[in-house]
Amino acid sequence: MFVQFRSFRTEYLQQIIEITRRNLTERYNDFIFLDIYRSWPGAFIIGMAENKVAGFICGGLSGEREARILMFAVDSPYRKMGIGSGLITLFEQEASKVKVNRIKLEVKTDNIEAINFYKNKGYIVTGLLPSYYNDGSDAYVMQKFI
Ligand SMILES: CC(C)(COP(=O)(O)OP(=O)(O)OC[C@H]1O[C@@H](n2cnc3c(N)ncnc32)[C@H](O)[C@@H]1OP(=O)(O)O)[C@@H](O)C(=O)NCCC(=O)NCCS
Repeated sequence: MFVQFRSFRTEYLQQIIEITRRNLTERYNDFIFLDIYRSWPGAFIIGMAENKVAGFICGGLSGEREARILMFAVDSPYRKMGIGSGLITLFEQEASKVKVNRIKLEVKTDNIEAINFYKNKGYIVTGLLPSYYNDGSDAYVMQKFI
């Protein structure tokens, strides 16, 4: 399948909101997407397939030379095709451009698929955040030096 990676545009917002609802368990206010985009436009990256938004990644600069992945999802029909790998690679490249040397993220401790995905990309578990999510579940903190 032909996949293209693009920068965020407001015309994609509704599809991004829907992908978030379908694939992430946390619930977000719709305005947060624009806030995240404005805080670091280059790191809000979209994967397009079949003329639709198939997935996206976005993040923030969270400390000196540190970035955080805030949301990352590929819609289930488009998984295991390399879109997630493309998105996280582009995110890491964007982070390097702004002199970030460490990327952090939180992931649910029962999200084995995502944890393995991140491990295969070089991220390691560095902490545990009990009851981090709204539903009371725990998060691992994972990070990678780039
Ligand atoms: C985590 C997530 C973003 C990965 O997206 P993805 O597009 O499936 O990622 P990829 O296709 O690049 O890689 C997924 C796996 O498929 C494999 N794969 C990639 N292309 C493949 C292909 N053509 N054929 C078979 N397998 C393939 C990869 O090797 C990878 O294996 P790994 O996870 O063991 O490393 C996706 O599973 C997702 O959205 N999950 C739900 C939301 C979520 O948990 N987000 C993270 C919150 S912290």
